[in-house]
Amino acid sequence: MSNDKLNCKRIFTDAIEEAFLIIDRNFNKWGLKIPDMSNAGVYRLWSMDTIQNADSWRMGFGVGIPWLCWQYTGDEHYRDYADKLTDIFCGMPYIPDQCQGVLYLPSCVSAYKATGNSNAKQRALGAADVMMKQFTQNGNYFMAYKRYKNYVADTAFNTVLLHWASDVTGDGAYYEAAKLHLETEMKHTIRPDGSTCHVQWFDDSGTPLEKTTAQGYSFDSCWARGQAWTMLGFALHYRFTKNPAYLDTFRHLAEYFFANLNPDHISCWDLIFRGANDTVDTAASVIAVCAVLEMAKQLPDDTALFKLKEKAVLTMLSIIRNYSVSYDDYIHSLILGGVDNMHHSGENQGLIYGDYFYLEALVRLLTDFETYWQ
Ligand code: GLY
Repeated sequence: MSNDKLNCKRIFTDAIEEAFLIIDRNFNKWGLKIPDMSNAGVYRLWSMDTIQNADSWRMGFGVGIPWLCWQYTGDEHYRDYADKLTDIFCGMPYIPDQCQGVLYLPSCVSAYKATGNSNAKQRALGAADVMMKQFTQNGNYFMAYKRYKNYVADTAFNTVLLHWASDVTGDGAYYEAAKLHLETEMKHTIRPDGSTCHVQWFDDSGTPLEKTTAQGYSFDSCWARGQAWTMLGFALHYRFTKNPAYLDTFRHLAEYFFANLNPDHISCWDLIFRGANDTVDTAASVIAVCAVLEMAKQLPDDTALFKLKEKAVLTMLSIIRNYSVSYDDYIHSLILGGVDNMHHSGENQGLIYGDYFYLEALVRLLTDFETYWQ
């Protein structure tokens, strides 16, 4: 192994050890509670008694973290903790929108894959049915949120749940809808330069109308996390299908993402910004890193992917150096520098999905990781 590789391995090992100190302290402090949004890196928590009132798309990741800890360490106490959190999570009412993948893949699908938890399986299948209600054949897309005549780019990731639902039930309708949605994104969301628009509108008959944004800077800019979710969605769908169009799409998206980082190799919250003083979104960066590592694992001899992987490693080294949290008695988050929604909640946040993908990226870099999401 070269010295550079050895140094990287040491840095990633130190980073994951630090992360586990924080995670263990969090789990001890929180007890059986699920994290959601944070205030200055301290998470709001939902318990068995309050879960009925929870309505946040972010909560699947707080359940996914202990599943990932179990996968990395093989330590049974993480498995028991994750299973108990999953049971609590199953008490959360369904949110009737397109966010079913982020909610149910890292939580209930992980639980079902890990332990055969049948309650978790039924909840995840119910979520796939909720998602199917968002689908419209007039345009072939999953409508966003309260069934508006539009979709958001990030839905590419959420459709991964439907692939799992087709596998488990033998009903191809779930995956068929996902496939149609991905084709629609390839046609309308991905621009010729490989960037994405966030929101695509249609009329009632399914004729495409204008492209706008909800979380990005402007209609013609590229919201970084939308781009990252889309990359991860196409990478995981490629794993299931080996469809070369998904691979080409992934490459196009990833080349754009990694060509538009700031001087520290981190994405700003919108890829129109690249300056040293512009606001970063570390959550977008770690999702994009996981997408590249997933694809590079599938195609280890691909030179272009190898180059993307080198860039992804630089991003991780920079996040560890500049945004990882040190073990102390207060901050729950593993990394800071996240932007949940620039228009509403500002910058430099700890985000539970940023933490999840930071940990997943470290696990991917240190082991031969297979996500449960398949
Ligand atoms: N709606 C998904 C996200 O904000 O990343």
